[in-house]
Amino acid sequence: MTENPVETHYTTQDLGQTIYAALKAAGKDIDRLSLDDLAPVDEFHGGQRPATVRLAELVGFTGTERVLDVGSRVGGPSRYLAWRYGCPVSGVDLTAEFVRVAEMLTRLTGLVDKVDYRQGDALDLPFEEQSFDVVWSQNAAMNIADRERLYREMRRVLKLGGRLALQEVAAAPGGPPHYPVPWAREPRISFLFTPQATRERLEQTGFRVLLWQDTSEPSLEAARRRAQAAEMPAALGQHVAHGADWPMMARNSLRNLEERRTELFNAVLQRVG
Ligand SMILES: C[S@@+](CC[C@H](N)C(=O)[O-])C[C@H]1O[C@@H](n2cnc3c(N)ncnc32)[C@H](O)[C@@H]1O
Repeated sequence: MTENPVETHYTTQDLGQTIYAALKAAGKDIDRLSLDDLAPVDEFHGGQRPATVRLAELVGFTGTERVLDVGSRVGGPSRYLAWRYGCPVSGVDLTAEFVRVAEMLTRLTGLVDKVDYRQGDALDLPFEEQSFDVVWSQNAAMNIADRERLYREMRRVLKLGGRLALQEVAAAPGGPPHYPVPWAREPRISFLFTPQATRERLEQTGFRVLLWQDTSEPSLEAARRRAQAAEMPAALGQHVAHGADWPMMARNSLRNLEERRTELFNAVLQRVG
């Protein structure tokens, strides 16, 4: 059992078997699993697959990029990028259980030649400097207090001129979030910064902003749908991989956005110097 409170928050015993059983119960053909079959249970950020598609379009992948997904969880976005664009993708995540499940789902979807996973800390990325053309991260930084070190690590593993694609939850003027939220059951593992503070930190670390979009408004509708679905879950959905407090987390995510306690943004930046 892990001592790290972030890993403890995310770890669900037998997650692989739970997802496998849910897919079977939903009538999916396990020998011919498609990425669409998996999308309800392998994308863990506001907006799920459509948000991944939008961020990928902002990056404008050509398929030649070597990509690192920081905080890759069970691998939905990394498999999507490899499948849609053909790029080789590595995922890194702190939570050992997620890495095992990501590898299992990648085998089941026949993408092992394109995607690999490692357990590791974003603050000490297990890769050589200048290894990647794109570093990608969705909804992982809110568990990380030391943003300076996080962005320094992301910059270190990016090639010169390489791009950083972020989808983030940020602090907003409405006050601290209501807990539990999907990334934390209590404030001690939640670290939100304002978009402005985040942007300044990124620029100080050696990134140039190519694009910065507030996505709070479009994300509200997705958060409403997610909160409704959590009350009356279908066979497949984000509830499959969460505990009994998932409906409360989904409700709080919506409430935090409505009360402007959180904001969401997408950003694409470039490593300069
Ligand atoms: C809300 S999930 C998002 C997962 C994934 N990006 C997605 O969108 O499906 C946050 C993930 O960040 C990971 N994480 C949190 N802190 C981390 C750290 N310091 N290093 C690596 N991964 C971390 C967690 O284990 C979890 O898988």
